[in-house]
Amino acid sequence: MNLLSGTSELAAKLTERLGRVACVFEGQLRSEVPAVDALTRHVDRYRGKMLRPTLVVLSGWAVEEAAGQEVAATGPKLDTLAAVAEMIHMATLVHDDVLDEASMRRGGATVNSLRGNETAVMLGDFLIASSFHLCSTLGIPWLNAALGETTTQLCSGEILQLTHRGNMTLSESTYFEIIRLKTAVLSGACCGLAARIAGAPAAQVTALSRYGEAIGMAFQIQDDLLDLVGDEGIVGKTLGIDVQKGKLTLPIVIHLARADEVTRARTLEAIRTCDRRGLLALVNATGSLEAARSKATERAGSAKEHLVELGRGPAIELLSQIADATVSRTS
Ligand code: IPE
Ligand code: MG
Ligand code: MG
Repeated sequence: MNLLSGTSELAAKLTERLGRVACVFEGQLRSEVPAVDALTRHVDRYRGKMLRPTLVVLSGWAVEEAAGQEVAATGPKLDTLAAVAEMIHMATLVHDDVLDEASMRRGGATVNSLRGNETAVMLGDFLIASSFHLCSTLGIPWLNAALGETTTQLCSGEILQLTHRGNMTLSESTYFEIIRLKTAVLSGACCGLAARIAGAPAAQVTALSRYGEAIGMAFQIQDDLLDLVGDEGIVGKTLGIDVQKGKLTLPIVIHLARADEVTRARTLEAIRTCDRRGLLALVNATGSLEAARSKATERAGSAKEHLVELGRGPAIELLSQIADATVSRTS
């Protein structure tokens, strides 16, 4: 897990616990149909940072810490929730790569580039169905309902973004609504639902949900920045796609609002011709890269403020480090 560099005892426990989550994940996806099995083994590599499972596990621990209980007692329910969240996320990535016509993810070929869009669409469906199948094995009706709602919001975010493709007057508020729906709602759910399963009082559930949402916002702003400024070899996925697909991201939205007529015309031309370098220079010149970075940092800061409700402890400390890592990451 490359979002956390710590070597604390708890970080080691987390690594071990994520190994268990991976077992639950893989166990659910094994298929007797060899073609399906081969595909699910291929997408196993998409489990890169395991951010969502990490949020689930640490949120459970944070609640135990706050209650003065022995850490790591929350058990298999959270492992299952963690695997479910990662599966939902993976399904949306497989579909997202179809929408974006991306050829690389996590340093490997995407399913759509290897096997075509039809297979990728069906595999995404297989993953979504598997995630809800796995979730139902917990026998917690409110959890099924909550994750159903979360997933529909996530899809709404992707649809909202699609309807704004090519919209060169996209507002900051619509941009934020898109990323809230497509990314932040799921990370918020990971924290809030884990807290509920761990028996947290309502104020802690709310605080952790808000922490998770803020992390998600920071994470997606950074993802969008990396699409513009990142190095493909380091990030491990096809970059420059947002511009190519007419999806305006925060630095560009801010830049277009600041630009004079000449700069605006140049910018629109750079977008039209997918001139990533030219666009980057223009956006940088109006200070809009920096402005977008500081909005990400603000969100990470507000995420940390929500943790105050839970007091202090090693799990809270790791959650706080994750907030910082979402904006300092280069991959
Ligand atoms: C979509 O966002 C990811 C989802 C939340 C479904 P991006 O299109 O920016 O994601 P990447 O950059 O392909 O990973
Ligand atoms: Mg994408
Ligand atoms: Mg992206």
